[in-house]
Amino acid sequence: MKKKVIFCVDDEKIVLNSLKTELKSAFGHAYIIETAESGIEALEAVDNLLSLGYTVQVVIADYAMPIMKGDEFLVTLHKKSPRTLNILLTGQATFEGVTNSINQADLYRYISKPWHTNDLILTVKEALKSYEQENKLKQQNKELQELSASLEQKVEERTKELQEKNSLLIENQKKISNQNNELEQYRNHLENLVKERTFELTQAKDRAEESDKLKSQFLATMSHELRTPLNSIIGLTGIIDKNSSIGEILEYIEIVNNSGVHLLKLIDDLFNISLIESGKVKVFKKGVDLGVFLNDIYKSMQEYRDHLGKNHIDFKLKIPPNCEDLIIYTDELKLKHIIVNLLKNAIKFSDDGIINFGFKVCKKEENIRIVFFVSDTGIGIDQSHQDLIFKGFTQVNGTLNRPYEGAGIGLTIAKKLVSLLDGNIWVDSTLGKGSSFFFSFPIKNIKSSIATNAGDECSKL
Ligand SMILES: Nc1ncnc2c1ncn2[C@@H]1O[C@H](COP(=O)(O)OP(=O)(O)OP(=O)(O)O)[C@@H](O)[C@H]1O
Ligand SMILES: [Mg+2]
Repeated sequence: MKKKVIFCVDDEKIVLNSLKTELKSAFGHAYIIETAESGIEALEAVDNLLSLGYTVQVVIADYAMPIMKGDEFLVTLHKKSPRTLNILLTGQATFEGVTNSINQADLYRYISKPWHTNDLILTVKEALKSYEQENKLKQQNKELQELSASLEQKVEERTKELQEKNSLLIENQKKISNQNNELEQYRNHLENLVKERTFELTQAKDRAEESDKLKSQFLATMSHELRTPLNSIIGLTGIIDKNSSIGEILEYIEIVNNSGVHLLKLIDDLFNISLIESGKVKVFKKGVDLGVFLNDIYKSMQEYRDHLGKNHIDFKLKIPPNCEDLIIYTDELKLKHIIVNLLKNAIKFSDDGIINFGFKVCKKEENIRIVFFVSDTGIGIDQSHQDLIFKGFTQVNGTLNRPYEGAGIGLTIAKKLVSLLDGNIWVDSTLGKGSSFFFSFPIKNIKSSIATNAGDECSKL
C-alpha cells in the first residue's frame, strides 16, 4: 500500500487537475497525488494524512489564493510537517511572499506559472529524490546515533567493569600488602625467636663445656689431692722395717699423720659441700660476742701461720673501737668456718706482707649489715678469675704441678655458708698486690649509731 503523498493546492480547479494529471502520469506508480482548493482545506487534509501515517513529501502550492495565500499556507504547513519539501507556483507572486516562504517555510523551489511540464516533473523528481536522500541521511544519522549511544553505553559498562576490577585489584593489593606486613612481622618474630634460641643454646653449650671442663679439673685435682697424701702414707709405712731407727720412725709417723689430717680435711670439705647442697645443713643462731670470738680465731690462725713457717707475715685483728663488746645473733660455727677459710687462703697465698681481718657495721638505707673482711698483700687474683674462684673446685693456677696445694673447695663452701646466713661474698683484688675478701649479712637489734656509711666495704653492699 502506497503511503507517500504529493500534495497540490490551487484555487483554480483547471490548474489543479492539470497538475494532478501531469504528476500522476510521472509519479502515480509510487505516490498518491492529493489536491485541495484552498490552504485551509489542504492543512486539514495534511493533518488527516499525517495522523494516518502517510508522509507528505512534496507540496506544490499556488501563491495567489484567496483567504490564505500560498506563502502563508506553506509557513503553517512547515510547522506541521517540517520535512515536507515546498514548491511555490508563482504567477503574480510578490518578492515579499517568496522571501517569506524561503525564510519561514524553508521553500525548496518556486516554479513560474504557466509551467513547462518537463520543468515541473524535473523539479518534483529532484524534490522527491532530495526528500529520500534526506530521509536516508536521517535514518543513517539515527542509526549512527543509536550506534554511538550503544557504544557509549558499552564504554560506560566497560568503564564500570574496569573500575570494579580496579577497586577489586586495589582491595587485593591492600590484602596482599597486609599479608606481607603480617608475614614480615612473623618472619621478624621467627628471626628473633631463632636468635634467642641460638643465644640460649650457645649459653647452654658454653655451660655444658664449662661444667665438662670443671668436672675434668675436679677429677684431676681430686686424684692429685688424694694421691699425694696416700702416696706418702703408703711409701713411708713401706720403708719402715726392723732396721729403721726410732728417730726415723717418729719422723715418718709425723708425715703420715699430716697426710692423714690432710685427707680427713679433704673428705670433711667434700662432705660439707654435699651436706649443704642437699639442704640438710640448718642454721643455729645464738648470741656471739664478736670480740671474744674473733680473738680466739686470731690466736689459732697465728699458730697455723707459724706452723707453716710464715711467722714473718704481719697478722692483725681490727675491731672498730665502738664495737669491742658487740654481740650479734648468728650461727657461730658457720661464721667461724667462713672466716677461717678466708684466713687460711690469705696465709697460703701470701709469702710476706700483712694480713688484716675484722669487721665493720654498715648502714644502707634503713638496713644494718655487718661486713667482715680478710685482706692480704699476697699474690692477688687477676680480674678474669675473680668470679670463677667462688665456683666449685677452681684454682687460679689449676694445673697438676700447681705451686699451692688445695682442692679449690674452700671458697665454694664459704660462699654457700654465707648465703645460708642471708649474706653475700665478694673480692677486691689486684694481681701481684693482694686481695681483700668481704662478706656481709643483715644484723638486727644493733644500735644504728655504731653503723657507718663510709668506706669501700659499705659502698659495695
Ligand atoms: N687470698 C688469696 N689470694 C690469692 N688467691 C686466692 C686467695 N684466696 C683464694 N685464691 C684463689 O682462689 C682459688 C680458690 O680458693 P679456694 O679456697 O676455694 O681453694 P684452695 O684454697 O685452692 O683449696 P682448698 O680451700 O680447697 O684447700 C685458690 O686456688 C686461689 O687460686
Ligand atoms: Mg682455700
